[in-house]
Amino acid sequence: MMEKLIIKGGRRLSGTVLTSGAKNAALPILAATILTEGKSRLLNVPDVVDIDSMRKLLSTLGVAVSSPGEDRHIIEVNIGALSRLEAPYDLVRKMRASVVVLGPMLARYGRARVSMPGGCAIGERPIDMHLAALAKMGATIEIDHGYIEARARQLVGARISLDYPTVGGTENIICAATLAKGTTVIDNAAREPEIVDLADFLNAAGARVSGAGTHQVTVDGVDGLTGVEHSIIPDRIEAGTYALAAAITGGEVTVSRCNPGDLGAPLEKLLEAGCEVETSEDSLTVKATGRARPVGITTQPYPGYPTDLQAQWLAFMTLADGSSIVRETVFERRFAHVQELRRMGAKITVDGDMAVVTGVERLQGAPVMCTDIRASASLVLAGLAAENSTVISRIYHIDRGYERIEEKLRALGADIARKRA
Ligand code: EPU
Repeated sequence: MMEKLIIKGGRRLSGTVLTSGAKNAALPILAATILTEGKSRLLNVPDVVDIDSMRKLLSTLGVAVSSPGEDRHIIEVNIGALSRLEAPYDLVRKMRASVVVLGPMLARYGRARVSMPGGCAIGERPIDMHLAALAKMGATIEIDHGYIEARARQLVGARISLDYPTVGGTENIICAATLAKGTTVIDNAAREPEIVDLADFLNAAGARVSGAGTHQVTVDGVDGLTGVEHSIIPDRIEAGTYALAAAITGGEVTVSRCNPGDLGAPLEKLLEAGCEVETSEDSLTVKATGRARPVGITTQPYPGYPTDLQAQWLAFMTLADGSSIVRETVFERRFAHVQELRRMGAKITVDGDMAVVTGVERLQGAPVMCTDIRASASLVLAGLAAENSTVISRIYHIDRGYERIEEKLRALGADIARKRA
């Protein structure tokens, strides 16, 4: 069923919004349950479509996954023997993050067949570093009819130096290393908070992972892992998106149950743009104080400015008092939102990895289309600030990563509704 979001812009948002659990922490942790034996209970899992896809993938493998109960934020899994060691094309095609089952399946069962993910809307997104690392740990890897075929009787610890701090790659390697023989050291590891959450889950299950959150992660292999209860960290990207919703609408919003410490770079930028920002241990408040000053960003791996908040920042800058430059260094073509924002009157030119944004006085509502999760969020932000109505189609992209976005925004005073097309 095709649905659309209809936003009547121009309302200043105010109030408090609760952050959901982090999709990008919950996905690898759900995959990592494959490494364990017995029952695990995950709390604060976001109720979004990508999590449903991971649920489906785990069921396909033969994992007993609880069906959504009264509290849709709790998922229980019971790991016995997997009945199938294959992540099929149909599921991987819908969600590339499915490849994080590769390391866990290989480590626990000595074999994994995972559909090779293709390119996607935001870039080529190869997984060469994942595969090279697993090969270094003793796996044989072949590509057969579009599938990665990985085998290893027993993975062995290795020293792995990543050319780039890949998030999914670091996750796959950490998972594989937990049950490998000996010690694995990952240099130039990704430092994202989601990596730390994965390590916390694994360590609670009996793994020996140290250094998560730094450039060097060390994993001492153990014989087995047990099921545990674990609560997923708050979604820093969702929290940042609501902070920017406050900023772009000239409002004042408190984002609660988040971790402001995970949002250092974006909050710094909001201050530079002229917003007032207050933080407590688990909440942040952003208040706009007039038209935004133009402030450029360059996306970087954590702790730099996150690529997953680039599109939203760009939307904010379309209304700033001057020109700014947004550079995307993580993905090679993550500017699909630019053409849609232009349809709303934004002045943006793109040259390679750089978008030059010249602030305009106002945006006008228009029919626009989503292309990926974060591009969609930027269209919602633009719609909230634009004159008249914005009709956003292909919103299944938003539902992949944002829990009940229209309800949360409506509670902040936005005029936004979901309609069947
Ligand atoms: N890359 C390679 N080879 C590899 C792995 C990565 O060339 O073997 C390149 C990618 O093509 C990309 C860059 O390295 O240009 C970064 O990719 P990375 O592996 O770090 O990203 P990912 O694990 O595929 C996760 C998030 C993304 C987020 C990026 C960067 C999940 C499920 N996904 O992707 O989230 O943008 O890290 O922070 O954790 C989203 O939530 O909307 C989203 C796209």
